[in-house]
Amino acid sequence: MNLPSTAPCGPAPALPANAESAWDPLTCFRKYNEFAASLEGWFGPPAIALWDALLVFQRERGIRGPMLEIGVWRGRSAALLALHAEPNSKLFLCDYKFHGPSIHRALELARPDKDLELVRIDGDSTNLHVHDIAREQFRKLRWMHIDGEHSARAVTSDMRAANTLLAPDGVLVIDDFFSWQYPQVTEAVLRYVRTQPEDFALFLCGYNKAYLARPHAVHRYLEYVASDLGDALAARGVDATLAKTTYPAEMNTFGVGPRRDGLALRGPDWEERTIRY
Ligand SMILES: C[S@@+](CC[C@H](N)C(=O)[O-])C[C@H]1O[C@@H](n2cnc3c(N)ncnc32)[C@H](O)[C@@H]1O
Repeated sequence: MNLPSTAPCGPAPALPANAESAWDPLTCFRKYNEFAASLEGWFGPPAIALWDALLVFQRERGIRGPMLEIGVWRGRSAALLALHAEPNSKLFLCDYKFHGPSIHRALELARPDKDLELVRIDGDSTNLHVHDIAREQFRKLRWMHIDGEHSARAVTSDMRAANTLLAPDGVLVIDDFFSWQYPQVTEAVLRYVRTQPEDFALFLCGYNKAYLARPHAVHRYLEYVASDLGDALAARGVDATLAKTTYPAEMNTFGVGPRRDGLALRGPDWEERTIRY
């Protein structure tokens, strides 16, 4: 039995042990698209599809926990996190300037049942290391999105906070990676990963964001990207090419972008049909 498309999100309702496979993985995506057009922000359809696919992957693998967004604006990306959060978990939202009642409206649309605890952190994210969250949520976050101040200094500081907060199997997402407007964001992310390789590994980039996981868990995400992400994006209306264009020892990161040359997966220029990771 598939849940109707308007069913509230969160874990599937109590069903027999073998029935989890009947849960419709597109439930949150459909529900989000019912109201996304009314939410102001920069979070575009391919990134929405990508987040949704990764969040469903986490759910299917039993990866649970609170989530945090730095830089909320009017709640467009936070609303998708709210849809995916398990009941009775926490969604932390950090912004130094909350932008009016629209955030509450976005979250109300996503979570009318109010079984999710929203924790507002009003303030500069570079102070997160002295906030209670640093102790209370140590290594617990399933998902963290950095989309606040786009200086290298702030991105580096936010990544340090992510190292304190992210769970061993969580995902860290950083906005405006490879954006021509914010080259310092790209520099900060690559510099951090290069100088602190024990903290995070960059497994995917594209549609304006970087996706990182803990080095000990990153193989799970790489496997998912190589084997299932293309189909998951297509199911959400995004025809993408996943590119893995060099040897893993050189850089073990997929790129994702609009479909090129009819290829769903593309290897190096000298071996286009071979994917190594
Ligand atoms: C690009 S908007 C976020 C967009 C939102 N994530 C979305 O996709 O809908 C950036 C937000 O970061 C906030 N911000 C900027 N610098 C910050 C800082 N140092 N600490 C916390 N929030 C900050 C701004 O107030 C703004 O709301």
